[in-house]
Amino acid sequence: MTAIGGKKVSPIGIGTWSMGGGKLGFGGSGAEKEEMKCIKYAIENDINVIDTAEVYGMGRAETLVGNAIKEFGRDELFIITKVSPYHFARDKLINSAKNSLKRLNCQYIDLYLLHWPTPGMNMGEIMGAMETLADSGIINNIGVSNFSISDMEKAMTETKRHTIVANQIHYSLLERSPEDRILDFCDKNKIGVIAYTPIENGRVSEIREVVRVSEQRKKPPIQVALQYLMKRAIPIPKASRLEHMKEIVGTLSWEMNASDYKALKDSG
Ligand SMILES: NC(=O)c1ccc[n+]([C@@H]2O[C@H](COP(=O)([O-])OP(=O)(O)OC[C@H]3O[C@@H](n4cnc5c(N)ncnc54)[C@H](OP(=O)(O)O)[C@@H]3O)[C@@H](O)[C@H]2O)c1
Repeated sequence: MTAIGGKKVSPIGIGTWSMGGGKLGFGGSGAEKEEMKCIKYAIENDINVIDTAEVYGMGRAETLVGNAIKEFGRDELFIITKVSPYHFARDKLINSAKNSLKRLNCQYIDLYLLHWPTPGMNMGEIMGAMETLADSGIINNIGVSNFSISDMEKAMTETKRHTIVANQIHYSLLERSPEDRILDFCDKNKIGVIAYTPIENGRVSEIREVVRVSEQRKKPPIQVALQYLMKRAIPIPKASRLEHMKEIVGTLSWEMNASDYKALKDSG
C-alpha cells in the first residue's frame, strides 16, 4: 500500500470510463451487471482506489460506483471523482461536488480533481472553491488532471490552506512523455501521479519488450505493463469484463525486478 493525502491506497486503482451506460452515456449498454461485478471483485481483492467523473455517462458511472460500493466499508475505499470544466466557477463547482456525492451515495469524496485545464480558467476562483469544499469535508483532498507543469504551478500558487495531492495524467508504455519532466516535478512537490489509459485498450500487450518479459516471467503482458507504471504512479485500468478484471487484479500478486524495469524503460 502507498498513500495519498495520508490515506492508504492500493498500488493500482480501477477506472470507470464508459461504465454504467455505454460510451455516449445514454444508458442501456446492458453491461452494468458485469461492471458491478468487476468493481466488487476488485474491492474484494484489495483494490481500494476507484476513479470516476461527473461526465462519465453523464453521471451514470458515478451512480454505478455508488451501487457497487454499498456493501463495503466506506472508510476502506478511496473514491476519486472529477469536476468538468463546464462547471469551473465557484457555485457551479460546489454544486457539482454535491451532485457527485448524491450519485455516489457517499458522505465524502476522497479526492476531487479538476478534470482538465481550459485556457483562461480563473485559477484563483476555482482553487478557492476547491478549498471551500475541502474545509467543509465534502472532499478530503484536492487534485488536478491533465495539468502541465505550468498549470500545476499556477494551481499551487492559488491553493492557500490545502495542498494539491495528485495529478491524473495519460501515462502508459505507449505514452512515455510524462517521464521527460512531469514525473520528476510531481515527485519533488509530493504530488501523486495517477496514470490513466495505462493499458491503451490492451494495445500495450503488443510491445516487443513487454512480450519478452511476459514470456520470460510467465506473467500476462497487461500485468507487465501495469507493473512498469506502478514504479512511479498509480495506474487505473478499466475493465467491464470480469475476465479482464481478474487479469488486472493479478498484477498485485508479484513484483517486477529491477532489470526487467530497466529493459522496458530503455526500450521506449
Ligand atoms: N482524467 C482523464 O482525462 C482520463 C482520461 C481517460 C481515462 N481516464 C480514467 O482512466 C481509466 C482507464 O483508462 P481507459 O479506460 O481510457 O483505458 P485503459 O484502462 O487503458 O483500457 C481500457 C480497455 O482495456 C480493456 N482491457 C482491460 N483489461 C484487459 C485485459 N486484461 N486484456 C485486454 N484488454 C483489457 C478494457 O476492456 P473491457 O472494458 O471490455 O473489459 C477496456 O476496453 C478510465 O476508465 C477513467 O477512469 C481519465
